[in-house]
Amino acid sequence: MTVKRKTLKPWGGRFAQATDPGVEAYTASIQFDRRLYKYDIAGSVAHARMLAKCGLLTKAEADKIVAGLEEIGGEIERGEFRFDPSLEDIHMAIEARLIEKVGEAGAKLHTGRSRNDQVALDLRLYLRDEIGEVRRLAVGLEQALIAQAEAHLDLIMPGYTHMQRAQPVLLAHHLMAYVEMLERDRARLHDALRRVDVLPLGSGALAGVGLPIDRRFVAKELRFRALSANSLDAVSDRDFVIEPLFAFALLMTHLSRLAEEIVLWASAEFGFIELPDAFATGSSMMPQKKNPDVAELARGKTGRTFGALVALLTIVKGLPLSYNRDLQEDKEPLFDSADSVKATLLVMASLVSRLTFCGDRMRQAAEDGFLNATDLADYLVRKGMPFRQTHEMVGLLVRRALARRCRLEELSLDELQAASPLFERDVFAYITLEACIKRRTAIGGTATGAVKKAIKAAKVKLRSR
Ligand code: ARG
Repeated sequence: MTVKRKTLKPWGGRFAQATDPGVEAYTASIQFDRRLYKYDIAGSVAHARMLAKCGLLTKAEADKIVAGLEEIGGEIERGEFRFDPSLEDIHMAIEARLIEKVGEAGAKLHTGRSRNDQVALDLRLYLRDEIGEVRRLAVGLEQALIAQAEAHLDLIMPGYTHMQRAQPVLLAHHLMAYVEMLERDRARLHDALRRVDVLPLGSGALAGVGLPIDRRFVAKELRFRALSANSLDAVSDRDFVIEPLFAFALLMTHLSRLAEEIVLWASAEFGFIELPDAFATGSSMMPQKKNPDVAELARGKTGRTFGALVALLTIVKGLPLSYNRDLQEDKEPLFDSADSVKATLLVMASLVSRLTFCGDRMRQAAEDGFLNATDLADYLVRKGMPFRQTHEMVGLLVRRALARRCRLEELSLDELQAASPLFERDVFAYITLEACIKRRTAIGGTATGAVKKAIKAAKVKLRSR
């Protein structure tokens, strides 16, 4: 039966009017989902091979389809593909071009498939790659942090709580804290990947497929770990997007903290680091300025990744089963978040590896501020005094030193002994910065040996990734 069609759309049979241009523009996703083309083609190739294996296509038809799809991939890559805005998404654009190229065989490709399971497949394939890429880039930043930690094992800086100088730590220990965070981020992504790596194709529009298809075959072709177990769920949930988005947002939170410290440390008030000129920007008005814009943008871009996560949670929360067009709104936030994370990891790795640390300024800051007060209290604990009493007594000594504008180690032995006869001459060696660092040997502490072990362990993990 031939009918005169009012529209090029695949659903033209049912429709007597062409789509309103405003509606076409409003509903189209081709502007952003075209970047899924590689995955859409890979999915279609696997689907076509499966249809041939199951006798739903002839071998010759499948070969024609596969060759046509590969040509289309080349056209898109070379920028020769004409994206027609009336074909609303990448799935329809590629299918229409295939039919144009190979005719009737092309018109059989969509057998036993819906765009609903197709788009879920494309997104899962995209995410598999993207998660791998983010994990690789995170390794790059970890390596930069580790290299700086190893190169500066002797630098002592103030450790802070409440943004107040608290106790001395090694710069290396401080940098390795970020390596720990990034390792957890990588583990989270790896875990999320297990749930991304599930084949949704074969779910049809929502109810499954009534033709004799072979889902296991497709899973093998596309190297999926498992098959989705419920067709309604497979076409309509996006938790496999939300989990990586959460992992991206948390990773960015960690990068944002690092960025914040770089901004602070580059200020004259801290002066702990010197930014490489190539990674700073000047002011159009103030000639003296050197601004840490890269770190600021890393901090700023974190907001978009939170936005993406909240957007997806919100899109999904009110949806009845199964597929609803709302789900088309999943792509832009996902792409934006993944792009932001990748770009930030890349630039932060270069920035970190090119930071110059100002050891003298760090040391100076660690020496001013009574960072050895806890150790002075511990000294008396070792001599049997209850910690609460030593805390009180050292508090009084800090007050005295403040009044005299001197450091704790500049109080005389007589003054110390007036506070407690337990003080002896060896107290001065006990409270040097080096001594404070050196005795924090418990696992996870800032003693040089403990930090070296942490570095070694981190390197082993990175090698076995
Ligand atoms: N462009 C759509 C999306 O991104 C593809 C699926 C459309 N399915 C449909 N039945 N309208 O979700």
